[in-house]
Amino acid sequence: MTTLRTLFEEADIAGRVDDLAEEIAKTFPQDFTIVGLLKGSFVFVADLARAMDRIGHAPRIEFVKVSSYGDGRDSSGEVRLEGNIPAAITGQPVLLVDDIVDTGNTLSLARRLLLEQGAERVVTCVLLDKPSRRQTDISANIVGFTVPDVFIVGYGFDYGEKYRHLPYLATLD
Ligand code: IMP
Ligand code: MG
Repeated sequence: MTTLRTLFEEADIAGRVDDLAEEIAKTFPQDFTIVGLLKGSFVFVADLARAMDRIGHAPRIEFVKVSSYGDGRDSSGEVRLEGNIPAAITGQPVLLVDDIVDTGNTLSLARRLLLEQGAERVVTCVLLDKPSRRQTDISANIVGFTVPDVFIVGYGFDYGEKYRHLPYLATLD
Protein backbone atom coordinates (compact mmCIF):
# COMPACT_ATOMS: atom_id res chain seq x y z
CA MET A 1 0.00 0.00 0.00
CA THR A 2 1.21 3.51 -0.72
CA THR A 3 1.02 6.18 1.95
CA LEU A 4 1.23 9.91 1.29
CA ARG A 5 2.56 12.11 4.09
CA THR A 6 2.41 15.86 3.69
CA LEU A 7 5.90 17.42 3.71
CA PHE A 8 5.11 21.04 2.78
CA GLU A 9 1.59 22.48 2.83
CA GLU A 10 0.33 24.81 0.10
CA ALA A 11 0.84 27.87 2.32
CA ASP A 12 4.47 26.85 3.13
CA ILE A 13 5.22 26.55 -0.58
CA ALA A 14 3.51 29.84 -1.46
CA GLY A 15 5.47 31.71 1.21
CA ARG A 16 8.75 30.24 0.06
CA VAL A 17 7.99 30.97 -3.63
CA ASP A 18 7.53 34.65 -2.71
CA ASP A 19 10.94 34.64 -0.94
CA LEU A 20 12.56 33.07 -4.01
CA ALA A 21 10.99 35.70 -6.28
CA GLU A 22 12.55 38.44 -4.11
CA GLU A 23 15.92 36.70 -4.37
CA ILE A 24 15.58 36.37 -8.16
CA ALA A 25 14.60 40.03 -8.49
CA LYS A 26 17.96 40.99 -6.96
CA THR A 27 19.95 39.20 -9.68
CA PHE A 28 17.86 39.85 -12.80
CA PRO A 29 16.70 42.94 -14.65
CA GLN A 30 12.94 43.46 -14.96
CA ASP A 31 12.99 41.59 -18.25
CA PHE A 32 14.60 38.12 -18.29
CA THR A 33 13.76 34.60 -19.46
CA ILE A 34 12.65 31.67 -17.34
CA VAL A 35 13.41 28.27 -18.87
CA GLY A 36 11.46 25.54 -17.06
CA LEU A 37 12.26 21.84 -17.38
CA LEU A 38 9.28 19.66 -18.19
CA LYS A 39 7.36 18.11 -16.87
CA GLY A 40 8.28 18.44 -13.21
CA SER A 41 8.63 22.24 -13.02
CA PHE A 42 5.31 23.25 -14.58
CA VAL A 43 3.54 24.11 -11.33
CA PHE A 44 6.57 25.78 -9.78
CA VAL A 45 7.18 27.92 -12.90
CA ALA A 46 3.52 28.99 -12.97
CA ASP A 47 3.63 30.11 -9.34
CA LEU A 48 7.08 31.68 -9.64
CA ALA A 49 6.11 33.68 -12.76
CA ARG A 50 3.12 35.17 -10.95
CA ALA A 51 5.21 35.90 -7.85
CA MET A 52 7.67 37.77 -10.13
CA ASP A 53 4.79 39.76 -11.60
CA ARG A 54 3.63 40.82 -8.13
CA ILE A 55 7.02 42.44 -7.52
CA GLY A 56 7.14 44.17 -10.90
CA HIS A 57 9.11 41.74 -13.05
CA ALA A 58 8.03 40.57 -16.51
CA PRO A 59 9.76 37.27 -17.31
CA ARG A 60 9.43 35.58 -20.69
CA ILE A 61 8.69 31.88 -20.28
CA GLU A 62 10.08 28.94 -22.21
CA PHE A 63 10.02 25.24 -21.49
CA VAL A 64 12.41 22.48 -22.46
CA LYS A 65 11.75 18.78 -22.04
CA VAL A 66 14.53 16.75 -20.50
CA SER A 67 14.05 13.12 -19.51
CA SER A 68 15.98 11.07 -17.03
CA TYR A 69 13.66 9.13 -14.75
CA GLY A 70 11.69 6.35 -16.40
CA ASP A 71 8.46 5.42 -14.71
CA GLY A 72 10.03 4.54 -11.41
CA ARG A 73 11.96 6.13 -8.60
CA ASP A 74 15.52 5.64 -9.76
CA SER A 75 17.20 7.86 -12.28
CA SER A 76 18.59 5.97 -15.26
CA GLY A 77 21.59 8.33 -15.04
CA GLU A 78 21.10 9.09 -18.71
CA VAL A 79 19.63 12.48 -19.41
CA ARG A 80 18.30 13.43 -22.83
CA LEU A 81 16.98 16.63 -24.33
CA GLU A 82 13.74 16.09 -26.24
CA GLY A 83 13.30 18.73 -28.92
CA ASN A 84 15.35 21.92 -29.18
CA ILE A 85 16.64 24.65 -26.95
CA PRO A 86 14.60 27.77 -27.91
CA ALA A 87 16.63 30.16 -30.09
CA ALA A 88 14.94 33.08 -28.28
CA ILE A 89 17.27 32.64 -25.29
CA THR A 90 20.38 33.66 -27.24
CA GLY A 91 21.89 36.72 -25.58
CA GLN A 92 19.33 36.62 -22.76
CA PRO A 93 19.87 36.33 -19.02
CA VAL A 94 18.22 33.00 -18.17
CA LEU A 95 16.76 31.58 -14.97
CA LEU A 96 16.84 27.80 -15.39
CA VAL A 97 14.10 26.28 -13.23
CA ASP A 98 13.61 22.67 -12.26
CA ASP A 99 11.55 20.96 -9.61
CA ILE A 100 14.53 19.35 -7.85
CA VAL A 101 18.27 18.85 -8.02
CA ASP A 102 18.85 15.22 -7.14
CA THR A 103 21.85 13.55 -8.82
CA GLY A 104 22.41 16.87 -10.62
CA ASN A 105 22.66 15.25 -14.06
CA THR A 106 19.56 17.02 -15.42
CA LEU A 107 20.47 20.49 -14.21
CA SER A 108 24.06 20.27 -15.41
CA LEU A 109 23.05 19.07 -18.88
CA ALA A 110 20.36 21.76 -19.23
CA ARG A 111 22.72 24.47 -18.01
CA ARG A 112 25.40 23.43 -20.51
CA LEU A 113 22.93 23.34 -23.42
CA LEU A 114 21.59 26.81 -22.58
CA LEU A 115 25.09 28.24 -22.50
CA GLU A 116 25.90 26.50 -25.81
CA GLN A 117 22.79 28.15 -27.27
CA GLY A 118 24.28 31.51 -26.29
CA ALA A 119 22.44 32.43 -23.09
CA GLU A 120 24.12 35.52 -21.69
CA ARG A 121 24.18 33.86 -18.26
CA VAL A 122 22.34 31.03 -16.53
CA VAL A 123 21.22 31.18 -12.91
CA THR A 124 19.73 27.91 -11.61
CA CYS A 125 16.69 27.70 -9.35
CA VAL A 126 15.05 24.59 -7.89
CA LEU A 127 12.22 24.18 -5.45
CA LEU A 128 13.92 21.23 -3.73
CA ASP A 129 17.52 20.17 -3.21
CA LYS A 130 18.42 16.58 -2.27
CA PRO A 131 22.17 17.04 -1.70
CA SER A 132 22.75 13.50 -0.41
CA ARG A 133 22.18 12.04 -3.89
CA ARG A 134 24.47 14.29 -5.90
CA GLN A 135 26.63 12.66 -8.62
CA THR A 136 27.79 15.80 -10.40
CA ASP A 137 29.57 18.89 -9.23
CA ILE A 138 26.60 21.28 -9.43
CA SER A 139 24.62 23.15 -6.83
CA ALA A 140 21.58 25.26 -7.66
CA ASN A 141 22.02 28.99 -7.10
CA ILE A 142 18.54 29.49 -5.65
CA VAL A 143 16.90 26.75 -3.56
CA GLY A 144 13.44 26.55 -1.99
CA PHE A 145 13.86 23.72 0.52
CA THR A 146 16.61 21.20 1.25
CA VAL A 147 15.20 17.71 1.76
CA PRO A 148 16.58 14.35 2.90
CA ASP A 149 16.71 11.30 0.63
CA VAL A 150 12.98 10.63 0.53
CA PHE A 151 10.78 10.24 -2.54
CA ILE A 152 8.56 13.24 -3.09
CA VAL A 153 5.34 13.68 -5.07
CA GLY A 154 2.85 16.47 -5.71
CA TYR A 155 3.18 20.09 -6.90
CA GLY A 156 4.44 18.82 -10.28
CA PHE A 157 6.49 15.90 -8.91
CA ASP A 158 5.33 12.50 -10.09
CA TYR A 159 5.68 8.84 -9.41
CA GLY A 160 4.98 7.02 -12.67
CA GLU A 161 3.07 10.11 -13.94
CA LYS A 162 0.75 10.11 -10.91
CA TYR A 163 0.37 12.80 -8.21
CA ARG A 164 1.59 15.83 -10.22
CA HIS A 165 -1.79 17.49 -9.60
CA LEU A 166 -1.53 17.56 -5.80
CA PRO A 167 -1.33 21.18 -4.61
CA TYR A 168 1.09 20.24 -1.77
CA LEU A 169 4.33 18.23 -1.48
CA ALA A 170 4.19 14.79 0.10
CA THR A 171 6.49 11.86 0.69
CA LEU A 172 5.54 8.54 -0.79
CA ASP A 173 6.20 5.40 1.24
P1 IMP B 1 18.53 14.56 -11.30
O1 IMP B 1 18.78 13.22 -10.68
O2 IMP B 1 19.11 15.69 -10.49
O3 IMP B 1 18.99 14.58 -12.74
O4 IMP B 1 16.96 14.80 -11.31
C1 IMP B 1 16.22 14.25 -12.36
C2 IMP B 1 14.75 14.39 -12.19
O5 IMP B 1 14.38 13.39 -11.29
C3 IMP B 1 14.18 15.66 -11.60
O6 IMP B 1 13.97 16.65 -12.57
C4 IMP B 1 12.86 15.15 -11.07
O7 IMP B 1 11.88 15.23 -12.08
C5 IMP B 1 13.15 13.69 -10.76
N1 IMP B 1 13.20 13.45 -9.31
C6 IMP B 1 14.25 13.44 -8.48
N2 IMP B 1 13.89 13.19 -7.22
C7 IMP B 1 12.55 13.04 -7.26
C8 IMP B 1 11.55 12.80 -6.24
O8 IMP B 1 11.81 12.66 -5.04
N3 IMP B 1 10.27 12.70 -6.69
C9 IMP B 1 9.92 12.85 -7.99
N4 IMP B 1 10.80 13.10 -8.96
C10 IMP B 1 12.10 13.19 -8.60
MG1 MG C 1 11.69 16.12 -13.87
